[in-house]
Amino acid sequence: MKRTLLITGGAGFIGSHVVRRFVKKYPGYTIVNLDKLTYAGNLENLKDIETQSNYIFYKGDICDAPLITKLFEQHKFDGVIHLAAESHVDRSIANPMEFIQTNIVGTVALLNAAREAWRSNFDNKLFYHISTDEVYGSLGQNGKFTEKTPYDPHSPYSASKAASDHLVRAYYHTYKLPIVISNCSNNYGPNQFPEKLIPLAINNIKNSRPVPVYGTGQNVRDWLYVEDHAEAIDIIFHKGKVGATYNIGGDNEWKNIDLVRLLCKIMDKKLGRPEGTSEQLIQFVKDRAGHDLRYAIDSSKLQKELGWRPLTTFESGLEKTVDWYLSNQKWLDNVISGEYQEYYKKQYHLR
Ligand code: NAD
Ligand code: TYD
Repeated sequence: MKRTLLITGGAGFIGSHVVRRFVKKYPGYTIVNLDKLTYAGNLENLKDIETQSNYIFYKGDICDAPLITKLFEQHKFDGVIHLAAESHVDRSIANPMEFIQTNIVGTVALLNAAREAWRSNFDNKLFYHISTDEVYGSLGQNGKFTEKTPYDPHSPYSASKAASDHLVRAYYHTYKLPIVISNCSNNYGPNQFPEKLIPLAINNIKNSRPVPVYGTGQNVRDWLYVEDHAEAIDIIFHKGKVGATYNIGGDNEWKNIDLVRLLCKIMDKKLGRPEGTSEQLIQFVKDRAGHDLRYAIDSSKLQKELGWRPLTTFESGLEKTVDWYLSNQKWLDNVISGEYQEYYKKQYHLR
């Protein structure tokens, strides 16, 4: 089948796995990747597929309405998978405006362009918005987020994602724009920018630098291997019900401190250090402002209705992730030069 899809944010962490999957699995599709290449976007992530004949890259901003309109006219997209976003909570606390701009204004610019381009006929069109479980707020010790959990975002990041989710639904209800939304838990895997917990810890352990754990490390996150998320996106894009929301999660809750200790253990083995060496690097630091205690996802709707389930165990996923970071020093060196150093100094006040 021939289709032309716009994937936004395809040079980022999750986006690059989604682009690769679609380019390889669907040779009849043309995949157009639009990415601004912010600090988080990196074309190295797509080196292996960049010369494929069904792949096109544009450097550009999703807030640039004339550019998006032009791309819709030129390529006649019949689907959009929208991943472009500012994605890091700590950066949103330090500088919220960029998040409002890209996550809210950028999403509306895309919705407007899709609505305009598809106005004569919405058949076989789909605007798929990728979102996060953080829109639901924070859980206590029990319970899980379902698709019916009321929104209660706490950080500028999650509030901006919540706003974009609401706007996507508003375009469905008001204009009948065919949309689908998924809200996923924390992803991990190759190509994640080392500002997020797992790659940051791997990088610091490797370099024998302090590993910062916020507060007392009791916060809980549900971790999903990025390829499992990419598969869920594939399934929802092709089989999801128009207008629906699907929660995606790994059923894999970890307290931050336990996760960091596990990483230290894996790294000791990989680096040939005596067990317990890397744990000495753990340093409890000032807690994140408004730090959500616990996220947990009930993904039974997606599992029952569309047959998805996470395939990668945490053990094998972490192993693959650690191996990837250890054998991709050049990638790491590239992304942690320049801007990252400034960010790191301001964020952590650590050596
Ligand atoms: P990321 O920060 O690694 O990548 C974001 C990408 O978007 C980058 O390539 C960046 O250059 C691009 N981008 C940013 N602003 C842009 C703009 N104005 N115009 C065009 N491109 C722009 O993010 P990620 O972790 O891959 O997350 C991707 C999506 O998935 C986001 O929407 C995020 O909210 C969502 N999500 C992430 C997670 C997670 O754990 N990482 C979990 C659930 C949902
Ligand atoms: P992060 O990877 O930033 O994802 P999110 O905030 O979107 O869940 O953080 C995961 C958890 O790890 C979160 O509870 C904050 C915590 N954390 C640390 O303890 N130290 C760190 O240096 C970072 C980046 C995060």
